[in-house]
Amino acid sequence: MAREGGAERIGVGLVGARGYTGAELVRLVEAHPRFHLTFAVSRQGKGRPLSELCAGAETELVVEALEPAEVAARGTEVVILALPNGQAAPYVAAIEAAGGRAVIVDLSADHRFDAEWRYGLPELRREALFGARRIANPGCYATGAQLGIAPALGVLGGMPHVFGVSGYSGAGTTPSDRNDPEKLRDNLMPYALVGHVHEREIGHGLGVEVAFVPHVAPFFRGITLTIAMPLATTVSADALRAMYQAAYEGEALVAVQEEIPLVRDAAGRHGVTIGGITVDAAQRRAVVVVTLDNLLKGAATQALQNMNLAFSLPELLGVPR
Ligand SMILES: NC(=O)c1ccc[n+]([C@@H]2O[C@H](COP(=O)([O-])OP(=O)(O)OC[C@H]3O[C@@H](n4cnc5c(N)ncnc54)[C@H](OP(=O)(O)O)[C@@H]3O)[C@@H](O)[C@H]2O)c1
Repeated sequence: MAREGGAERIGVGLVGARGYTGAELVRLVEAHPRFHLTFAVSRQGKGRPLSELCAGAETELVVEALEPAEVAARGTEVVILALPNGQAAPYVAAIEAAGGRAVIVDLSADHRFDAEWRYGLPELRREALFGARRIANPGCYATGAQLGIAPALGVLGGMPHVFGVSGYSGAGTTPSDRNDPEKLRDNLMPYALVGHVHEREIGHGLGVEVAFVPHVAPFFRGITLTIAMPLATTVSADALRAMYQAAYEGEALVAVQEEIPLVRDAAGRHGVTIGGITVDAAQRRAVVVVTLDNLLKGAATQALQNMNLAFSLPELLGVPR
């Protein structure tokens, strides 16, 4: 730890600084009173000031192209991996080989089903994160869907169906149809209609089977999830909303409201909004709408909550509110 201005600063290395989540993390870590970014890795950004890659970030750092062993050799207290799925293993192996002391936060899906890693969704499993050293940060849709279903688990009468729509930043920076502005113009693009990794993740996290159908929209950031749930018993909308309010009472990053939340209001916000809770009594079916910013509560803000918990800091330290 380095001492700066009287406070212990916790060194953080970021691998994947050119990505959308990487840029959010640079801004959050740089503004954090205790964490301090000591290196940022991107092959394409090598040699450029980090502030050029991440608009609005106040940092003097220059981007480096470090190999996994070089990342490990830096010996920072935290290494954040903000890389596409399937890329984490060499970094984790190099850090383990160097003694494994760093807290690793992996934003990809690579460790979300690994029992040796802690799954970082504080509002549902906070205890697991205190002092955690290997943290699998949840997926963006999976965060919203789990928070949107969990309070209703006790009255669930069948498989929830989650209709998800994400802004195209959810598809990352590697060019594809799902982040091609031309293909998305005046469009809504369904994809991965069965077997999306988040479908498995939601089911794994909640302990119930879930059907999830993702779509990508022409807006940049934000997710809206419309969740339809069969009910085992007759429950009114008011009673169901009361269950959600009770479940998230005291949770600063989860708001429960009567109105249907709109995705455009989620962009740039750090929390999740759950609303529009309605019940069809005849069909014994409830519908709930969840919105969040995929890059914040769906990724970077959640990573910061997890890092705070790992170091026994206040969970929301450095989260703008
Ligand atoms: N976007 C979202 O909304 C979101 C939300 C939650 C979780 N996630 C997860 O977070 C991770 C990062 O997503 P993202 O959208 O921010 O960025 P991304 O576009 O998936 O990744 C870009 C970053 O990864 C680096 N990179 C790409 N391939 C690499 C490789 N083979 N080896 C080393 N570095 C490589 C790139 O740097 P260089 O190519 O310059 O080296 C760049 O810094 C993904 O696993 C994603 O699934 C994303």
